[in-house]
Amino acid sequence: SKKLAVMLSGRGSNFVAIAETIASGALQGCHIDVVLSDKPDAPGLEEARRRGIDTMVCARRQYASKQEWEQAMIDGLQARNVDFIILAGFMRILGEGFINAFPRRILNIHPSLLPSFIGLDAQQQALDYGVRYSGCTVHFVTNDLDAGPIIVQKVVPVLPADDAAALSRRILEQEHVAYSEAIALVVAGKYEIQGRRVLLK
Ligand code: GAR
Repeated sequence: SKKLAVMLSGRGSNFVAIAETIASGALQGCHIDVVLSDKPDAPGLEEARRRGIDTMVCARRQYASKQEWEQAMIDGLQARNVDFIILAGFMRILGEGFINAFPRRILNIHPSLLPSFIGLDAQQQALDYGVRYSGCTVHFVTNDLDAGPIIVQKVVPVLPADDAAALSRRILEQEHVAYSEAIALVVAGKYEIQGRRVLLK
């Protein structure tokens, strides 16, 4: 079974959705080995403990430099021999050192249809722009922010009465479906990355 490490900074609803999909038997061939957070009080860590999943905390302020912080996370994850790293609301930008330590092994979910609305507050960016459809994207992490090869996308309508909270809730429901689909695909290994494109084999 492939080992997943989930990295999160907050609520952890994507982590919970993945854990529940695995527990239900609908996502096979992998298990969550550890949940790693940069926030010692992230609610997602408590969700992990409740499920008996190991946790690790690497708070940025515990380290003198970004490089040492990243190295501590690399060491922790390599010691556990994880196969894939699942960024699920991990709200710090990872540097080249970290990303290059796990080439094509890091996935991220972003609450927009990339390449639109990268960075923070993607749902508010979509409202401000006035798009009629937004959604979510699961992609491989590369050194270009929110721009790695796309694995799964889900389209979500923007409704006239939406505020950021309402749109975020509608997108989040689809995130919870999209992430398990993407993980199933990479865990099965039946894909090839050609340039920007993830091709199914
Ligand atoms: C999700 O909406 C995720 O797409 C977003 O943070 C939320 C985390 O929710 N991630 C980003 O915006 C990354 N830039 P969760 O903690 O309940 O999974």
